[in-house]
Amino acid sequence: MKKLITIDRHILETQTHFPEATGEFTGLMYQIALAAKIVSYEVNKAGLTMLLGKTGSINVQGEEVQKLDEFANNTMISSLDHMGYVCIMASEENTEPIMIPSRYRKGKYVVAFDPLDGSSNIDINVSIGTIFSIFKRVTEPEDSDGNVTDLLQTGRNLVCSGYIIYGSSTMMVYTTGRGVNGFTLDPGIGEFLLTHPNMRIPDNGGLYSVNESNYRYWPVGVQRFVSMLKSTSNERRRPYNSRYIGALVADAHRTLLKGGIFMYPEDIRKPKGKLRLLYEAIPIAFLVENAGGAATNGRMDILDIVPEDIHQRVPLIFGEKRLVDLYKQYYREASELPQISTQTPDPK
Ligand code: AHG
Ligand code: MN
Ligand code: MN
Repeated sequence: MKKLITIDRHILETQTHFPEATGEFTGLMYQIALAAKIVSYEVNKAGLTMLLGKTGSINVQGEEVQKLDEFANNTMISSLDHMGYVCIMASEENTEPIMIPSRYRKGKYVVAFDPLDGSSNIDINVSIGTIFSIFKRVTEPEDSDGNVTDLLQTGRNLVCSGYIIYGSSTMMVYTTGRGVNGFTLDPGIGEFLLTHPNMRIPDNGGLYSVNESNYRYWPVGVQRFVSMLKSTSNERRRPYNSRYIGALVADAHRTLLKGGIFMYPEDIRKPKGKLRLLYEAIPIAFLVENAGGAATNGRMDILDIVPEDIHQRVPLIFGEKRLVDLYKQYYREASELPQISTQTPDPK
């Protein structure tokens, strides 16, 4: 019988890489895996328990909050706030940083998360996910409340990042900077089992992933890059294949497994891009770099960007390093041209 490696065992073995670890990191990851199982259970029966549909409230992003968003958010917060591992948290669904209640001990870790990514896909039963970033606190003393300084760290300081994808099966994928490993939930025994050890982004996936309805608003370098991918003048001598799921976790998971490039560029209407740096771009970039790929905002590595606000948005381009480097080249060359209108003239 093949050796079954549960995520708990894998995390424990990862723990040995942290000499100063006192079991708190392991405990924190256990809690995230527990939250994942709880959310997975709800996601898989959302249609039955009428958790679908809107709550009528609007979040800091100005977006309609779906019931599953709130359920996932409450589950993440209540799984992480009482064990004494965390000193502060940030969530896409909370305008302000989430403080640890005074009755609970504070710990040395900081967690930022997107509790439910791809909300627009909930009602159509398409893959959605949860994304998380884990840092060590940078403020003293260790048992005090954290503050926003602990949250606004670059991705180079990450201790761990990962996502859970609620799809045809539920998977948890994470890295602590030593490779990327994927675990599939066996609902029969309630365990995440190692199914994708040491995930590496394949070369020549021949895929590009972008919401092309924004084409006319992109910087001209991005328009040129995507047009090249769709032409016969690229290195494949044939157009790249297009895949876009509209949930970052699902597009990221496919990119890790199949290769290619994902783009959510800035445009005239969203000059900072759409995706959030702290709990979408940074965790995905850490995973992609640890799988042999690259992640940029068009000019610099995502992991080198210093967050200024917990809900800051950035352009996010990631995937095969060769394609990401080519994107940056097109972006740079066009930005060095005299500024021309990027509005595509309407046909006469
Ligand atoms: P969220 O549901 O957490 O708000 O995230 C949605 C994001 C991301 O998942 C996805 O890549 C992107 O929105 C899709 O945006 P468009 O619909 O504009 O393409
Ligand atoms: Mn999201
Ligand atoms: Mn979300």
